[in-house]
Amino acid sequence: MEQQFAWWQQGIFYQIYPRSYMDGNGDGIGDLAGIRTKLDYLAWLGVDAIWLSPIYPSPMVDFGYDITDHRNVDPLFGTLETSDALIAEAHQRGLKLLMDFVPNHTSDQHPWFQESRSTRLNPKRDWYVWADAQPDGAAPNNWLSIMGGSAWEWDAGTSQYYLHTFLKQQPDLNWRNPAVKEAMFAVVRFWLDRGIDGFRVDAAHFILKDPDLRNNPPNLSAQPVLHKSMGEYDTLIHLYDTGHPDVHAVYRELRTVLDSYGNDQSRIIIGEIHLKNRKEWTTFYGTHLDEFHLPFNFGLVTVAWNAQAIRTQVEELEEQLPPGAWPNYVLGNHDEPRISSRVGDVNARLAMLLLLTLRGTPTMYYGDEIGMHDGTIPPEYIRDPLAQNLPGLALGRDPSRTPMQWNNSPHAGFCPPEVAPWLPIPPDYLQINVADEQLESTSLLSFTRRLIALRRAIPALSVGSYQHVAAVPEDCFAFIRHHHGRRYLIALNFADHARTVQLPRSSASTMLLSTLVEPAQPTSAGSLHLREHEGQLVELTANS
Ligand code: GLC
Repeated sequence: MEQQFAWWQQGIFYQIYPRSYMDGNGDGIGDLAGIRTKLDYLAWLGVDAIWLSPIYPSPMVDFGYDITDHRNVDPLFGTLETSDALIAEAHQRGLKLLMDFVPNHTSDQHPWFQESRSTRLNPKRDWYVWADAQPDGAAPNNWLSIMGGSAWEWDAGTSQYYLHTFLKQQPDLNWRNPAVKEAMFAVVRFWLDRGIDGFRVDAAHFILKDPDLRNNPPNLSAQPVLHKSMGEYDTLIHLYDTGHPDVHAVYRELRTVLDSYGNDQSRIIIGEIHLKNRKEWTTFYGTHLDEFHLPFNFGLVTVAWNAQAIRTQVEELEEQLPPGAWPNYVLGNHDEPRISSRVGDVNARLAMLLLLTLRGTPTMYYGDEIGMHDGTIPPEYIRDPLAQNLPGLALGRDPSRTPMQWNNSPHAGFCPPEVAPWLPIPPDYLQINVADEQLESTSLLSFTRRLIALRRAIPALSVGSYQHVAAVPEDCFAFIRHHHGRRYLIALNFADHARTVQLPRSSASTMLLSTLVEPAQPTSAGSLHLREHEGQLVELTANS
């Protein structure tokens, strides 16, 4: 029988950071009303699903990742009625919608935490992770917060410490308490009942810790524990405060909640799991593929931008994926520098070709399709608490969160001219914007849209097999996607010089797309001529 593929295996995801997509009510901050006006654009672009970063009520200390009510919408973004309308209007256009689910912590302003910290005897005391001070008054152990400093905050009212893996305004929930699990699963059902198609699960591997709260051992290797330096956080190996094996039982159970909405894999969960060890990372698919449909693969975010490193990333993933597990790729998100700033504009085109032709579900970050760059944020405009807590590390995430550049009018068409956008808009919006790029056939937006259209039209590009082409110059990366007898070669040249890639024996090629603006040079039979930093997508045919 022919293999069937689920929508999320064939589809393209698109992340929206709601504060920054489109301001519908004229306060300088993006909202759901704004997003509703841009659904036609997303349908035009050709993506299949939207993932919305959090829209729930929040004091916005971590811009929505600190939630006070999981069953509502922050007034900044709209109302439950607006979110219902957004879901319905997305579905009318054939777009799926995923929400962010933040299981590790709530806001310290959440009524659950307010109750929890009210007295030690409160029934919700055990909904969070509380522990006594050491005899000298010091924190219960040496655990550190990712956002800087100790992971423990002293609560003078009840004379205990509470745990916060992120900001002190984001106390960690205690998932060992069945009542917490029930309450959070009820939240999941609440949104599934409203019609959403799944969740991106925030900081998924953090939710359970060592029940004995043992000290983490020192990290003697001086290697960053994540992919970039997190300062003091890197001084420990995070053996006891993250990735506890008990998390798998929780995600198996969460998966059954999703599956109870239709066993056809129509509702899905994607996990944010930053684990360097790929073997450990693959365990989040579940032993029987019964946990995450997709644990986010950040390989292309962290990889050195050269052919060998990228090839190794892709090959290792292909080798280590458990049988039946589906791969996925991302180039960036709201926590990372933008791809165009990381690798440059010419390489950003190669990156887009790679993202949309590798075997696996691609997730695009808003604005990457037009080549938005990281903004320059003057000190007085810094909003990200990470940048404020760890100023020495230049870790700020504001630069990749600047408003979407829609056109070349004041504030890039994001908000009315008379109000200030919540983050400054890079001056390059005069050239880099949706409206102008839609008219320009050589723009990154036009290239991306053509590529998406090809991917939709050619099943080999979404669900075909992956085969690496070995005999290519060392600064090139080439692979073949194959499905039902149709074969497509994707060849990328990372060199500052032209390169020639030999076609597989007895093959001829038909050019479908090049990353470069000028038409590709004619190629001699049996080979592809790639100009410097050019990527090509060609169909292979038998050479008669
Ligand atoms: C995730 C989010 C990030 C947030 C953190 C705490 O890593 O992507 O933006 O600050 O979790 O919720």
